[in-house]
Amino acid sequence: MKILAVGDIVGKPGCTMIRNFLHKVKKDLEVDLCIANGENAAVGNGMTRSIAYELFEQGIDVITMGNHLWNKKEIFSLFKEEKAIIRPANYPPGTPGRGSIILDVNDKKVAVLNISGRIFMENLDCPFRVIEKELKVIAGITNVIIVDFHAEATSEKLAMGWYLDGKVSAIFGTHTHVQTADERILPKGTGYITDIGMTGPYDSILGVKKEIIINRFITHLPEKFQIADGPSQFNGIVFEIDELTGKTTNVNRIIINEKF
Ligand SMILES: [Fe+2]
Ligand SMILES: [Fe+2]
Repeated sequence: MKILAVGDIVGKPGCTMIRNFLHKVKKDLEVDLCIANGENAAVGNGMTRSIAYELFEQGIDVITMGNHLWNKKEIFSLFKEEKAIIRPANYPPGTPGRGSIILDVNDKKVAVLNISGRIFMENLDCPFRVIEKELKVIAGITNVIIVDFHAEATSEKLAMGWYLDGKVSAIFGTHTHVQTADERILPKGTGYITDIGMTGPYDSILGVKKEIIINRFITHLPEKFQIADGPSQFNGIVFEIDELTGKTTNVNRIIINEKF
C-alpha cells in the first residue's frame, strides 16, 4: 500500500494547496492513506473545526499535530468528536486527545502515531520510552505502523529513526517546515526522512512573512506573525509498504511548487 504524508499545512495558502493538488497527487500516485500535519493550519496556528473538516473532505484521513496544538481552543472539543486528529503521545498522562489511531485500509489495519521531540521543544515525556510503550500495544494489532516525529533537532530525529528501524514501517519528521533530501530505507526496512517540509507560502520563513522574522532577529522586538503571500508549495512523502511484512519498499519525496 502507498501512504502519503503531507508536511505542516500553513494557513489559508496551505489549505488552498491541499484543495488544488491533493486529489491529483493521491490519484496519480495511487495513494491508499493520507496523513497530514495540521498544527499550523489555522490563522495564528492550531486547528479549527471548519478547517479540520475541510481537510478531511479534501481527502486527508489522519491529521497529526505538534507544539502548536493548543493555539485554538476548539481542539478540546475536536478531540472528543474526531479520533482521526491525533497529538504527540508524549504529553503527560491525562492530557486531552490521543497519540495514535488504528484505521482499516484495504482490509489491513494501519497504525499512525504522533510523537514529539524534546530538543529545543517543550519538555515532554521521553519520546523513546513513550513510543516503546505504545508499540507494545500496537504490535499485537498490526505490523503497518507510521510515525510522525514532530521535532526540531536533526540528531534527535535520526536517533529516533535508527531506534525504530525494524519496529515501524516508516517514520517521517515534521516541525522544521524545511524538507530534507535524506529519504531512505533503513537496513531493517523502516522508511525514513528527517523532515517532509511544509505546505504553504514559498517566499517566506517557515510560512511567515520574511520581513517580520528578519526584523525580529535584528531587533528582538515582538511582532505579530502574519502568513506570507505569493506562490505556495506542497511538500510530502509517499512510502510504499509491503502489507505482509510491514516494511517500506519504496520512498518518493514530493515537492510541488507554484513558482516553478
Ligand atoms: Fe509546523
Ligand atoms: Fe511544530
